[in-house]
Amino acid sequence: MTTVSVSDRPAHDLKADALVLATVDADGKAALAAGHGLPRPAASHVAAQLAALHATGAADEVLTIAAVPGVAAPRVVLTGLGKGTARTTSFDHEVLRRAAGAASRSLKNANKVVVALPTAGEESVAAVAEGAAFGAYRYAGVRGPAAKPAKAITAITVATPDARVKAVKAAATRAAILADAKAYARDLVNTPPNQLFPQSFADSVKARNTTATAKVTIKVLDEKALEKGGFGGIVGVGQGSVNPPRMVTLTWNPPRATASVALVGKGITFDSGGLNLKPATGMTTMKSDMAGAAAVAATVFAAAQLGLPVKVTGYLCLAENMPSGTAQRPSDVVTMRNGTTVEILDTDAEGRMVLGDGICLAGEAKPDVIVDIATLTGAQMVALGGRVAGIMANDDTFRDRVVAAAAAAGEAAWAMPLPADLRKQLDSTVADLAHKGERWGGMLTAGLFLKEFVTEGTPWAHVDIAGPSFNEGSGWGYTPKGATGYGVGTLLRLVEDYAG
Ligand code: BES
Ligand code: MN
Ligand code: ZN
Repeated sequence: MTTVSVSDRPAHDLKADALVLATVDADGKAALAAGHGLPRPAASHVAAQLAALHATGAADEVLTIAAVPGVAAPRVVLTGLGKGTARTTSFDHEVLRRAAGAASRSLKNANKVVVALPTAGEESVAAVAEGAAFGAYRYAGVRGPAAKPAKAITAITVATPDARVKAVKAAATRAAILADAKAYARDLVNTPPNQLFPQSFADSVKARNTTATAKVTIKVLDEKALEKGGFGGIVGVGQGSVNPPRMVTLTWNPPRATASVALVGKGITFDSGGLNLKPATGMTTMKSDMAGAAAVAATVFAAAQLGLPVKVTGYLCLAENMPSGTAQRPSDVVTMRNGTTVEILDTDAEGRMVLGDGICLAGEAKPDVIVDIATLTGAQMVALGGRVAGIMANDDTFRDRVVAAAAAAGEAAWAMPLPADLRKQLDSTVADLAHKGERWGGMLTAGLFLKEFVTEGTPWAHVDIAGPSFNEGSGWGYTPKGATGYGVGTLLRLVEDYAG
């Protein structure tokens, strides 16, 4: 885990492998942003370098210069904040988060990093700390014995005059825990699907519980227990694979909890489509089809590590969707946990089947609210692209609360409707429910399908993260290529919101 601390000593005096400073785009030319605290000769040196390099100060512009006189660190990294002036001290928190992350993401062969960006108050210090820690993530991969592991960032110090303020210190601790949670979710998603399948996912969660400082209760239902418990959705999806399905329940139940939040995650460890096999190009990123479950697991541990006074229960709906002689067929009718029968129309619409059972199970514990998070539909990406999640709910007030949590976390999301008119697309002639509607509005009919499994009166929200969970392009801001860890920030904020 990368440590995060704060210091009110001059950043240029701190011993580190690199000092990160910010630039702004002041009329097309880069200027050193406020908060650097450099002595005048050092600042002039940096300014001359910026001019010589034709730097612009744009977001995602990261430049490294060496041996700045008067700076203890041998490297100075300059990261762009975008439009601003050398005197601007107040920046959007997500702008700060991304700039700090772009810098740490670019750093090679550095252990200790000092970050001195313009901050004003604990929330902006938190944003800088989070961004720097998110950007420090590296996926180790599966390597042979000859590979040399890259030097990782182990310590981040954020320079701020408020380093002695209690809330600022707490923000640094929270940033470290959140970044570690996001890293755990990213690692789960990046792990190849021959290594991460339902049972090994469950094992990973158990292993993390012994290293985490707080106690989470973990329960695993295997395929026999799922069959016995009437979880027809998850059993049906999992029956085509030699890696049988699991339902993992993680509970953080602190004394004197003020509220209870249930989090349900789609955990398809590989989505081939099943008998309705995906085309080759549709399968390339499908190891990431468990990103919702990864975000849920990571969040429950983070809530426990922070000791939040909220009961948080995570439900990981784990299965592998494969074609085989035992696989589910289109036209099969299965009975879900709550007794509802569903006509399978397309075995590639498997996420809603495992989530339907997970939402039923969550409801049985009578939580105050339920949130599910899932890489559910390609339609989400058609509607909102690769970076913005769609949020639907059975309650507008609750939906807006989840959207607000996402915004505060810097995770882009947008409220989407669940139009009652579309519900009739889910009528079936042979079962209680058909399991998909028309192609158009596919994100919304998937949401309407899930709504059928929510206990009347329980506020529920559905977060479709098909796009933002996995970055197929190159890195940007604090987001690496591959798994993004999207959702951990939103879910943790929401739980904190219930902590008051
Ligand atoms: N896991 C996919 C959705 C997905 C697609 C996530 C692309 C990330 C990137 C899901 O299980 C799926 O296959 N959905 C189908 C549903 C359809 C058959 C109703 C889809 O969106 O095409
Ligand atoms: Mn699918
Ligand atoms: Zn899927």
